[in-house]
Amino acid sequence: MKLPTMNLDGKTVIVTGAGRGIGRTLALGLASAGANIVAVSRTQEQVDEVAAEIKEMGREALSLSVDVTKMADLDNMVKKTIEQFGTVDVLVNNAGVTKKIPAEELTEEDWDVVMDTNLKGMFFCAQKVGKKMIKQEKGSIVNLASVGSKVAISNSVAYCGSKGGLLQITKVLAVEWAKYNVRVNGVGPAYIETPLLTWIKDQPDVYSKITNRTPMGRMGKPEEILGAVQYLASDAASYVTGETIFVDGGLLSYGV
Ligand SMILES: NC(=O)c1ccc[n+]([C@@H]2O[C@H](COP(=O)([O-])OP(=O)(O)OC[C@H]3O[C@@H](n4cnc5c(N)ncnc54)[C@H](OP(=O)(O)O)[C@@H]3O)[C@@H](O)[C@H]2O)c1
Repeated sequence: MKLPTMNLDGKTVIVTGAGRGIGRTLALGLASAGANIVAVSRTQEQVDEVAAEIKEMGREALSLSVDVTKMADLDNMVKKTIEQFGTVDVLVNNAGVTKKIPAEELTEEDWDVVMDTNLKGMFFCAQKVGKKMIKQEKGSIVNLASVGSKVAISNSVAYCGSKGGLLQITKVLAVEWAKYNVRVNGVGPAYIETPLLTWIKDQPDVYSKITNRTPMGRMGKPEEILGAVQYLASDAASYVTGETIFVDGGLLSYGV
């Protein structure tokens, strides 16, 4: 019997928001697991740097400037991926933004930026890449959720709304596309040390609130998200769909 592994040898993986933070680490980590990477974000120089590092590892890489809220950019991303690699095996839907603003002060513009990126952008990335996967009758999509998908993060109404919605979209796509052998799952980090959360370092009271509420007593590191994403991307998870793995140092298990 040939046992499945978490090896990603020769697979084509698109990572959105790959220029920095968790996405950058995922792009490099999935490449070291054997994948060829399409690294996309709005800032071309950052994804170019990631692609250069991946090529140094001996893998193939393509870097593209893509705004996930723009449908033409997503069409171009899929077209260029197929032109270069002929297939797309995995999509890591990682691009995301937040606005730390009290609910009563949030503007329509703030709401739209968060929802357009985290929910609309995530869905249409999945849809456009998913169409190719449906034709191939094989694929794995991993959406970056958050503990904010499950519990309230104060001053983050749009963010938590978008990440709660992402959990539901993950399940609906998993149910609709299971018959095409396209799996759709999520990974939900808690507080991870990335540029998205640099503001926490400037607010010791917020930092200690987070670490006190986290059984493991610390924030996570981007590389600690990699294992869950790699597992769901790989054939080792061939019977897993509609699931979200929370990587949270125990935060969601904490009751009191
Ligand atoms: N950090 C955490 O503690 C944490 C916790 C839970 C969940 N998450 C989730 O994990 C994901 C990554 O977070 P992070 O902390 O690594 O964020 P980050 O450091 O701020 O990086 C976000 C990445 O997304 C890209 N991006 C933002 N808007 C985009 C758009 N419209 N089109 C294309 N790319 C876009 C950014 O590049 P450009 O600005 O150049 O486009 C950047 O590469 C997000 O979905 C976030 O919600 C993070």
